[in-house]
Amino acid sequence: MSVKIIVGAQWGDEGKGKITDILAEKMDLVVRYQGGNNAGHTVVVGEKTFKLHLIPSGILYDTCCCVIGNGVVIDPEVLFWEIDTLHQKGISVTPEKFKISSLAHVILPFHKLLDSQEEGHRLGQKIGTTGRGIGPCYTDKVSRVGVRIMDLLSESRLRKVISRKDWAAVLPNHTVDIDAVVAQYAALGNRLRPFVVDTSLFVNEAIDQGKRVILEGAQGTMLDIDHGTYPYVTSSSPVSGGACIGVGIGPHKIHQVFGVAKAYVTRVGEGPFPTELTDETGELLRHRGAEYGTTTNRPRRCGWLDLVGLRYAVRVNGITEICLTKLDVLDSCKEIKVCTKYKTSEGDLIHFPLDLDLFSSCEPIYDTLPGWETDISNITRFADLPETAKQYVEYVSAAVGVPITLVSVGSRRNQTIRLISR
Ligand code: GDP
Ligand code: IMO
Ligand code: MG
Repeated sequence: MSVKIIVGAQWGDEGKGKITDILAEKMDLVVRYQGGNNAGHTVVVGEKTFKLHLIPSGILYDTCCCVIGNGVVIDPEVLFWEIDTLHQKGISVTPEKFKISSLAHVILPFHKLLDSQEEGHRLGQKIGTTGRGIGPCYTDKVSRVGVRIMDLLSESRLRKVISRKDWAAVLPNHTVDIDAVVAQYAALGNRLRPFVVDTSLFVNEAIDQGKRVILEGAQGTMLDIDHGTYPYVTSSSPVSGGACIGVGIGPHKIHQVFGVAKAYVTRVGEGPFPTELTDETGELLRHRGAEYGTTTNRPRRCGWLDLVGLRYAVRVNGITEICLTKLDVLDSCKEIKVCTKYKTSEGDLIHFPLDLDLFSSCEPIYDTLPGWETDISNITRFADLPETAKQYVEYVSAAVGVPITLVSVGSRRNQTIRLISR
């Protein structure tokens, strides 16, 4: 029996999709537990690149069943576009291979309108959301006026549920045609019907039968609604604790928590970022790492690895091992910096500060390590890495106190170094 959580240890885009795909080869189930199509998880197989937004990153294996848990918010149109795109690339998404929770909440057209409207009205505090309606949908969920997947399966219930909120009052400058939306979403519900199950029951039974399961997180620790850099966060719980809620399983069933971290850091959207590099080194990382958003194509802000943040991620998620990705992106650096502490007006900090104003004022204190200045993207054994690259990996592992069990040196499956065979 094996249940692993895969969690982003930074601000998202750490390479969770690649790592999930690598591990999914030996898995029976991959389950998404939160977020929605704000996520963009890239998996590269041979000449094909798959950008997955809602469908878990295990879908490329015939042997793996994929599940969208109750904690996810689903835009049905995007889901069907994704299913059709996968189909065109030769991947079939059948009800045997893919299940959706009847409890997951639905992103409506109104949520997308509200997302852009709210961004415009937030005084002095633009979040830089993905504009996919994620925040407004989760807001309706906790306000108890949301629409769930099960509601799409009956037109009369859908009409009742959708009318619990006065949409015309919330969107005075838009045409709110409830009849049209009910007809459209009931039709989408009919197409969804074969995939809809009690996913908590399905996943728990699979675990009890000894099946191997990955719970795949989206976004990352620093974007967590509770533990992230609030308010510059998403509206769900990407941290490992969110997995139990977002799937409906007990914490005693979790065996490992894999934290995925880049060998440097990126952030999309607004909010403080102490190690951000706005100079040519930042540009180099963006260029070498192809750091442009998978979902919105926005350039990602880039900076050196932040160990204060990574230690925080280890703590709040209970990370048991780290998968360090994109080490190859540092290939051309003569020297590599890592932030070990923050300098603040209140003294040096080794622990991540919870006060956003204090965090915004933090200046990174760096250690400088030698680079390797050679191409490592074809290396598949740790022993074959240049000494300075090994030192970098060992330094990071020692600094955060958990083993690094997987190092990624390229986007392809074979560009992966396993340090401990699993
Ligand atoms: P996710 O959201 O955490 O799944 O990450 P994204 O897919 O949004 O962004 C990670 C990007 O880096 C993708 O384009 C991956 O193909 C790519 N990638 C993943 N691992 C590596 C790596 O080790 N080296 C390089 N150069 N690219 C990688
Ligand atoms: P994956 O799963 C990186 C960021 C947005 C914005 C903030 C809130 O690919 O790692 P939202 O639309 O969620 O309300 O936006 O969160 N964000 C991400 N950044 N990777 C993601 O997902 C993200 N999903 C949301 O840029 O700053
Ligand atoms: Mg991404």
